[in-house]
Amino acid sequence: MEGKQTIHFDFNNMMADTIGPEHGITEQELKNLAPIASRYVNDLKEERAGGKLQFQDLPYQKNITDEIIKTANSLKGKFKNLVVVGIGGSALGNIATHTALSHPFHNILTDRERKGFPRVFVLDNIDPDRFSGLIDIVKPEETLFNFITKSGTTVETMAQFLIIVKRLRDRLGKDYKGHIITTTDSEKGTLREITRREGFQSFVIPAGVGGRYSVLTPVGLFSASMSGVDIVALLDGAAFMDEVCKSDNIWKNPALMGAVLYFLSHTKKGKNILVMMPYSNALSGVADWFCQLWAESLGKKFSLNKEVVHAGSTPVRAIGVVDQHSQLQLYMEGPYDKVITFLAIKQFGKEVSIVSGNDVESDLAYLKGHSLNNVMNAEFEGTRLALTEERRPNCTLVLDELSAFTLGQLFYLLELQTAYAGKFYNVDAFDQPGVEAGKVNAFAMLGKKGFEQRKKEIDTLLQKAQRKYCI
Ligand code: PA5
Repeated sequence: MEGKQTIHFDFNNMMADTIGPEHGITEQELKNLAPIASRYVNDLKEERAGGKLQFQDLPYQKNITDEIIKTANSLKGKFKNLVVVGIGGSALGNIATHTALSHPFHNILTDRERKGFPRVFVLDNIDPDRFSGLIDIVKPEETLFNFITKSGTTVETMAQFLIIVKRLRDRLGKDYKGHIITTTDSEKGTLREITRREGFQSFVIPAGVGGRYSVLTPVGLFSASMSGVDIVALLDGAAFMDEVCKSDNIWKNPALMGAVLYFLSHTKKGKNILVMMPYSNALSGVADWFCQLWAESLGKKFSLNKEVVHAGSTPVRAIGVVDQHSQLQLYMEGPYDKVITFLAIKQFGKEVSIVSGNDVESDLAYLKGHSLNNVMNAEFEGTRLALTEERRPNCTLVLDELSAFTLGQLFYLLELQTAYAGKFYNVDAFDQPGVEAGKVNAFAMLGKKGFEQRKKEIDTLLQKAQRKYCI
């Protein structure tokens, strides 16, 4: 770790020593779980060696990284806009990376200020007004569309695909194909079929990597590379964290310690809400990405033994300092049902001084000589101290700085922590039957072939339903 910019996990305020045994974890509780934790680490290592858990191999995929960088370089300067179309795991990682590493107002910089990199938009929701709004402002001839779907059939993505392809064809004729890149499974799904038929340029999502673990595949790497992110550093960061998290000793493996603390806080201390609160706008997308990762991986009806368990804790995203003026009241004085995880950046990219002269109202004189950085830090430290005094469990992941290298570490750390947590909850952290059920219902209601029986069932259910409305 010497000399490397990294992440530090401070969990002192989760511990009974600091906040008392009613809400905090005791050393004995950690000790009791340590042998089981060690066994789970070794189980996961075996699964990895057996070819499962492919997300853990992603940091080392040199060929694909080269291909992405080559493609991105060949496209540089050719497009004013990159529009990513995808949803869930096929969108949130892109948003997280772009928000973390690009200029905060990237899309309103001039072409020159963006240094040839395109503006980046992500169309995940199918809200017709938002969709139309974006289509109004991106000219087909200046725009590259990256359609991302692992299954190749997701209704939101494919509906937008059809509209956009028609528009591109109408406006650009046979040249339209050069404005499309698809990212999907190598074999399965409608998008792969169309890609083959039309000869679109395409990337492959490895079969063994699920959507929410796919940020370090072409799903997240292509748009990152297109906007100038150093994706080699991103993957190096993930590889670095893979090394850091090798041990089966909870005291030496931060991903394991995180999983153990959240699990014990939930199951022993009743903390069924997990707030992810970055003190950084740039990390707001990571908080959203994490919420999906945690919710979809651990929120399960059945255990691995097929018992009904309704497992999971509820992730919530908050932003420091903004939510000090919104959510914090609840965190301080509401039910003792939350763990708050702060993300903090030791060294922001910029230092912004407030004022230094003498012409400041006496009431504001205390701000003299300070910077926004100092204020942000004082508010962060003040908030976590206040929560700790109220015996509210909280922990902090401190990034030395925000860079591609530390972001890669953070993605990997949180993914591995979630995989470990799956072991503790005894659920499959890699499937999403609840999401699939919603997809099936949507297909049935829209009249997709093969879903006729489900459509009948839904019609019967809707007829039976007694609807009551207030207005
Ligand atoms: O994590 C997941 O598996 C899901 O959130 C998917 O990413 C999401 O449902 C989109 O699926 P697809 O990539 O198949 O379009």
